[in-house]
Amino acid sequence: MTQKIAILPGDGIGPEIIAEAIKVLEYLNSNLGLGLEFERGLIGGAAYDATGVPLPVATVELVKQADAILLGAVGGYKWESLDISLRPEKGLLGLRSELQLFSNLRPAILYPQLANASTLKPEVVSGLDIMIVRELTGGIYFGQPRGLRILDNGEKQGYNTLVYSESEIRRIAHSAFKIAQKRDRRLCSVDKANVLECTELWREVMTEVGKEYPEVELTHMYVDNASMQLVRAPKQFDVMVTSNMFGDILSDTASMLTGSIGMLPSASLDINSKGIYEPVHGSAPDIAGLGIANPLATILSAAMMLRYTFNLGAAADSIEQAVNDALNTNIRTADIYSEGMQKVSTSEMGDAVIKALTMRH
Ligand code: NAI
Ligand code: MG
Repeated sequence: MTQKIAILPGDGIGPEIIAEAIKVLEYLNSNLGLGLEFERGLIGGAAYDATGVPLPVATVELVKQADAILLGAVGGYKWESLDISLRPEKGLLGLRSELQLFSNLRPAILYPQLANASTLKPEVVSGLDIMIVRELTGGIYFGQPRGLRILDNGEKQGYNTLVYSESEIRRIAHSAFKIAQKRDRRLCSVDKANVLECTELWREVMTEVGKEYPEVELTHMYVDNASMQLVRAPKQFDVMVTSNMFGDILSDTASMLTGSIGMLPSASLDINSKGIYEPVHGSAPDIAGLGIANPLATILSAAMMLRYTFNLGAAADSIEQAVNDALNTNIRTADIYSEGMQKVSTSEMGDAVIKALTMRH
């Protein structure tokens, strides 16, 4: 069976890092016969320049037909003065809502070879490997009513609504439990059930869905404690699941435990585990075109795609091991460089991953 992957390189370093991820996918495709097919589309500033809009109809069509989407990054100085509706970032937001991507997966892995990149003590973070599952299409970011109003006494008031329906909680719960099944089978649900009714329901539904996954150990934690525990003893966690706003904050905290933005992949999935796979970082216009960007976040995003959309866990493992092998040599891109290492380009880092794959296959 062929699987179609929409490739959206985007702007800045996007095309440079995407090229390396495709190199890796193509290598596995031809060696393991994965049956992957690639088709390119335009998004962001690149799409605006070519068509006048950041998310052309042709791209929407392409992603709807695709089984998964691999995206570089969007944005850059060149488009900063455009009207907000035409900005490159709008293309990505449009794509996310078009596809109903409610489940955002952000792993935080500390590679031992990069332990000194973290601001935390090595014993606290060494071997760190956690996954944050953030609800992405509901909660306070989308709740109605919302707005700014003027009260009778003339004072201004801002208001937003935290709202989750049972079905919204249920689907993110299933998503998180399924991920926990593929990992260490421990899931921590983060809420504020002692104060907010909405998250009381969150806890109730999580517990109920948990009965369908008896092999996964479910625990609950209040968000204030969770933020503290993430910094105090992050290795106690395997998978964490939480609502949109708590997840926004906790996933940024967790990602920075590892200390290097060039290493962090992400996935945003729909109900059928179709979705967008992209690095956490942006288009890095300050280094675009120099060939020095770190392609590993994008290569690791491609690994997540094989695991979560295509159920090709073994192929995903081999990419992750190859990244690890590449880091075991002394080559580093500039963002993860340290003394005594050899500084390499984007494509040399991609080549090192391929070489590591060659040794393993
Ligand atoms: P950024 O993540 O693009 O860059 C922050 C810093 O990290 C820069 O110094 C950059 O050179 C460095 N960096 C990022 N990725 C790197 C990599 N792979 N290798 C080496 N160094 C890397 O964030 P910034 O500067 O705030 O935003 C730049 C543009 O990207 C803006 O237009 C922003 O809107 C857009 N952006 C897009 C995102 C997306 O497409 N998902 C996410 C975040 C920002
Ligand atoms: Mg954020």
